[in-house]
Amino acid sequence: MATQTLLVTGGAGFIGSNLVRFLLAETDVRVVTLDALTYAGNLSNLADCLDSPRHTFVRGSITSADLVAHLLQAHRVDGILNLAAESHVDRSILGPRVFVETNVEGTLTLLCAARAAGVRRFLQVSTDEVYGSLGPTGAFREGTPLAPNSPYSASKASADLLVRAFHQTYGMDTVTTRCSNNYGPCQFPEKLIPLMILRARQGQSLPVYGDGLNVRDWLYVRDHCTALWAAYTRGQAGAVYTIGGGCEKTNLEVVRAILQALDRPESLIEFVADRPGHDRRYAIDASRLRDELGWRPAVDFDAGIAETVRWYLEHADWLTQVASGDYLHAYEQLYGPGGKAARTVGGGTR
Ligand code: NAD
Ligand code: DAU
Repeated sequence: MATQTLLVTGGAGFIGSNLVRFLLAETDVRVVTLDALTYAGNLSNLADCLDSPRHTFVRGSITSADLVAHLLQAHRVDGILNLAAESHVDRSILGPRVFVETNVEGTLTLLCAARAAGVRRFLQVSTDEVYGSLGPTGAFREGTPLAPNSPYSASKASADLLVRAFHQTYGMDTVTTRCSNNYGPCQFPEKLIPLMILRARQGQSLPVYGDGLNVRDWLYVRDHCTALWAAYTRGQAGAVYTIGGGCEKTNLEVVRAILQALDRPESLIEFVADRPGHDRRYAIDASRLRDELGWRPAVDFDAGIAETVRWYLEHADWLTQVASGDYLHAYEQLYGPGGKAARTVGGGTR
């Protein structure tokens, strides 16, 4: 089969940039990255990918029907992996509208364009948060009823339902993945792990919501990428796959592990007001992905957190640039005001 061309949306974000790097290193696909470079998108996350002849970066929004249609046609895109999103729960509590615009309307725009262009497969990268909150026992599975609790998770669940509808109604080949919490390099420091590393490194207090006993199921980001690739290449059409590391930790356990890795005192921990609607516990049963596709996580939490802390310490410039907001100007600095060549970087059409 000829080499495929994949459109990866949100590829300048945390998981997206790790996925683009994985695809260029481990597969022979061509990648077109479409990213709006919001506050969460950072072109330096892709610094080592921009010169690859198999990679083209395009700055633009998944809500732009004309741009998406043009890219699918110009690059003869075979498949779409949709990671573009507003992804932070706290921000969705403060301002839900953009979450609907990007996560729901953006996904609908992509689905319509994919259908019109005859794209072979559409992978929707969703989240375990669509299932809501667990009690002390049990785990989310593919068939767990959707019960989102935050505007973020409601927008992701809405997008998932559109993806389902496009499969049922139009026979579109779709796959939906629902993963638990990721950690690793290039995560924006508004999320728990990079925020705590950044603040602990500077000797600042570490704000832990509520009693710190909320539980998340942590997965190293590269393991999410291998799961996405397994689901994209070998998943069943119309299927949902839940993805998780089988690694439940309370937030306090995570924060303590970071303090230990950085050799900082626990007195930095500060309990603060709880997040409204804070889901108590997430846990994933990933047996479908394991049994059907043979996927297993390769990195355990101790190794992953050590690697993650090391990455942030070795990339203090990345943290400083992100914390100062300087990265927001990187695109213009690299390619001039308005961007170069219709906002396209590297690669080219084929
Ligand atoms: P992120 O916030 O780090 O990155 C999101 C990217 O999307 C950014 O580069 C941003 O610029 C881009 N983007 C935002 N709006 C856009 C638009 N309209 N058009 C094009 N690009 C746009 O998010 P992340 O943590 O990497 O998450 C990626 C995906 O994975 C999201 O769909 C998220 O819901 C899902 N997910 C995340 C996690 C996690 O733990 N981080 C877990 C499960 C699922
Ligand atoms: O489960 C998958 C989801 O994981 C993804 O869909 C989301 O995109 C991603 O942001 C993440 O959502 P969470 O809300 O779980 O992640 P966050 O890093 O914001 O918070 C993790 C836990 O830590 C949560 O229980 C809230 C708590 N927390 C978070 C922050 C930022 C704190 O106690 N203090 C903090 O400062």
